[in-house]
Amino acid sequence: MQAQVERLMAEMTLAEKIGQLNLLAAGEGLVTGAAQSTPLARRLDSGEVGAIFGTKSLASARAMQERALEGSRLRIPLFFAEDVIHGHRTVFPLPVALACSWDLDLVEDTAAFAAAEAASEGIHQVYAPMIDVSRDPRWGRIAESPGEDPLLASRFAVAATRGFQGGGIGEPDRVAACLKHFVAYGAPDSGRDYDNASLSWEDLLAIYLPPFTAGLQAGAASVMAAFNAVNKLPMHANAPLIQGWLRGTSGFNGLVVSDYTGVKELTPHGLGPAAVVVARALHAGIDMDMVGEDYLAELPALAETGLDAPEAGLSFGASRIREMIDTACRRVLTFKASLGLLDDPFHGMSGTAAPSRSDGRKLARRAAARSTVLLKNDNVLPIAQSTRVALVGPFARDRRNMLGTWAVSGNWDDVVPLDAAITALTGTAPATAWGVNITDRDWLAARLNVHGVTVETDPRSEDELIAEALDAARQSDIIIAALGEAKEHAGESSSALSPALPEAHLRLVRALKATGKPVAAIVFAGRPLALGDLPETADALLYAWHGGIAGPEGVADLLFGAAAPSGRLCVTLPAHPGETPVSHAEEPTGRPFPGRFAKFRTGWLDMPDGLTRYPFGFGLGYAPIRYGAPSLSSTVADVSQKVLLRLTIENTGQTEAIETVQLYASDPVARITRPARFLVDFKQLTLSPGEARELVFEIRADQFAYPVAPSLESAEWVRDPGLVQLHVGPNSRDTDTVELTWSS
Ligand code: BGC
Repeated sequence: MQAQVERLMAEMTLAEKIGQLNLLAAGEGLVTGAAQSTPLARRLDSGEVGAIFGTKSLASARAMQERALEGSRLRIPLFFAEDVIHGHRTVFPLPVALACSWDLDLVEDTAAFAAAEAASEGIHQVYAPMIDVSRDPRWGRIAESPGEDPLLASRFAVAATRGFQGGGIGEPDRVAACLKHFVAYGAPDSGRDYDNASLSWEDLLAIYLPPFTAGLQAGAASVMAAFNAVNKLPMHANAPLIQGWLRGTSGFNGLVVSDYTGVKELTPHGLGPAAVVVARALHAGIDMDMVGEDYLAELPALAETGLDAPEAGLSFGASRIREMIDTACRRVLTFKASLGLLDDPFHGMSGTAAPSRSDGRKLARRAAARSTVLLKNDNVLPIAQSTRVALVGPFARDRRNMLGTWAVSGNWDDVVPLDAAITALTGTAPATAWGVNITDRDWLAARLNVHGVTVETDPRSEDELIAEALDAARQSDIIIAALGEAKEHAGESSSALSPALPEAHLRLVRALKATGKPVAAIVFAGRPLALGDLPETADALLYAWHGGIAGPEGVADLLFGAAAPSGRLCVTLPAHPGETPVSHAEEPTGRPFPGRFAKFRTGWLDMPDGLTRYPFGFGLGYAPIRYGAPSLSSTVADVSQKVLLRLTIENTGQTEAIETVQLYASDPVARITRPARFLVDFKQLTLSPGEARELVFEIRADQFAYPVAPSLESAEWVRDPGLVQLHVGPNSRDTDTVELTWSS
């Protein structure tokens, strides 16, 4: 394989090498056989494209490949990429939802299904998994994230990478994964998309980098750089993190692509004019330039003259620039060789059959049920099939929002809306009413207009809408309220100052509650929303996210007991929208302090009393689960020893249950302040009614290692002897504790 690459390298001209670094969007694409002269066609004709993303059909991709081969003196093929973030044609729940399943086989299965669908359309690489840990509900792209915890996100990264890549990226039905966005894109200052992430090196190493380490260890073939700066240095020019950490410390030798015009955006970031930022990006380790075409425009001259940019502290001779071009080009060609494209330029493009859509629907439905989190249930759910149901709210009949953000190849006609899903399951159509518009807030409405979409709204007054909802409610035994946010309200460039369920939705639920009928509320959303008094007003509460083509069907299965809820939050649901960033892994402060300083508590002066914060890991089922007391095989251990933590879990209910047993730890005395608790392991098990099972967790000293990093370069992972605590339970709050001492 490498010999093939070297043969090509030896024959290629400088211009041909630079052409390989150019990554373009398909746009309108090409029509087979047509002699079109679009900007893309002209680039293909002159051998100035290395890869294309966003092809909408196999025929179009093949047309581009044919044209590229004709335009390339050495017949070097393109590879094709796509944003397959949570499914391709078959849209699965949002990643933040899927991570709430804590079911790694399910994550792998959905990725494998998406890979096969994408591969059948000639796609070789997917811009996924997105593995940006995020603790900020204001950040719209939290929708694409596996949540707030580095361990859960790392396991998600491994499962998704395996699902996409299988045994190798050249295999049929598989694609190359692209871990993104490198790095700390989920921690922008103030939750503002694209903003600098100001964080300690310790946080970078312990929270944001581990999912990348895990994905790379699972063999991910490529990585995408993030738009943001980390501690002031934009990632597309971040040599210490890309060349230093990713390529150096982690030993990654695969392909690094820029994000969309990410190289060009270094100029408005303040890093200099085009020639300077191109040199900086190439030097930082960005192999391919997506869409901006700055490599194409600037590298020929840089390779002749070199660059002297004292303002950037950089100076490269022409030969150094040519060397860097060679390195990047070699990586592109090696990637193509691993995909099998250097042996057969139409590899993966012969139109293999897509996996069955009906299998995909089944998987999507199961995934939706598994991703939904039951937050409250005062003996309301599951609903008996004969119950008269009123279904109220703007998502009762909704199709388009169910797909969620970043479903670029999805079709909302594939969604079975909630009213139809309930009718199909129970045999009876619920009485439906609109109840409330999706948003009563100007800025949210404006957001929808920016996207130029038509969101169904009802021009009647709020009083009229509520009156109609109450009519429907009076004719029923139970009210299901389908609430939430539109898909445009989460996603890229959709940061929100106030991530909360709109007040009008809360007013509707209060009015419904006044009928005395039980209210089951469902929240369809792309981010963790503060729920106001909904946890108190509703009798049952399901957090269903945007669940993909079978989202509403998965929810219907839970409502009527065809499936049991098993989702557990992968993000904390804030009690108040201002409570951000928020996570279970908060660090302790010096206060509360015992005695007379007790009033100086860490907290919010203006936080109304009685609001519910749902903790990370939280979720209910239909069967009660009893946790036995945990015990340790030894309470003192040498760091080289493994200690076993045992406990018994029992399903004391009448129905099967899926339980996720979570193990947290704390390290009360360390060299620096550490999180009050952090997740170290979890296990998921299915328990039949009445079944009890013993679980064994292996405890190792390395689970307590943490970074101490006065600078990135001087970072050191350490672990200390002494007392640690282990907390085991059904979520990050309700745990039992045992203590262990590591001897030195
Ligand atoms: C996003 C990436 C995406 C790329 C290509 C960018 O705006 O940040 O996640 O892969 O566009 O569509």
